[in-house]
Amino acid sequence: MPIILAQRGAVARGGARGYIPAPRMSKSETLPILFVPDTRLRLKARPIGDADGDKVRALADKMLATMYAAPGIGLAAPQVGEGLRLVVIDIQPKEAPAPMVLVNPEIIAESAELAMREEGCLSLPGQYADVTRPARVKLRYQDLTGAKREIEGEGLLSACLQHEIDHLNGVLFVDHLSALKRNMILRKLAKDLKSQQRG
Ligand code: NI
Repeated sequence: MPIILAQRGAVARGGARGYIPAPRMSKSETLPILFVPDTRLRLKARPIGDADGDKVRALADKMLATMYAAPGIGLAAPQVGEGLRLVVIDIQPKEAPAPMVLVNPEIIAESAELAMREEGCLSLPGQYADVTRPARVKLRYQDLTGAKREIEGEGLLSACLQHEIDHLNGVLFVDHLSALKRNMILRKLAKDLKSQQRG
């Protein structure tokens, strides 16, 4: 994938206010994504401190490469087996990438109004369901330089931000569904993954 990633990296810009440019993505390797029921997806990730700087920059780079290669629009560190509060997101179309890296993101406000969207997850490949969440959220996070930032999201961005922050707390989109629906999806996922292994 290095050629495609280099092209994406080359055209990446800061995007809308509050977005930050991603690190150079040209030579990043991708990481294996954990699938449900891997227990590491259920752990609460720890906050990132100053001492984590170099590791986090390298990890963010690899996570972006992994997300683009999947392809996906968001990825949280626990999904690649790293228990750190780090999220990467890009909801823009391929032609105009706007990668975001969020360190220690936390929701500081959410709307009373709810919105329903279909969600999927790279850790539950091929599974989708309508999830209801607050329609708008406001987040506080740090960028890769440690600077404090805020971002507000609605629509797809809002759902994506909430979905990824859930991952940092060991929560998956299926946890927002009824037990019946959740079990249906988990059974289907297990079956799909098994038949892929037999491939
Ligand atoms: Ni996910």
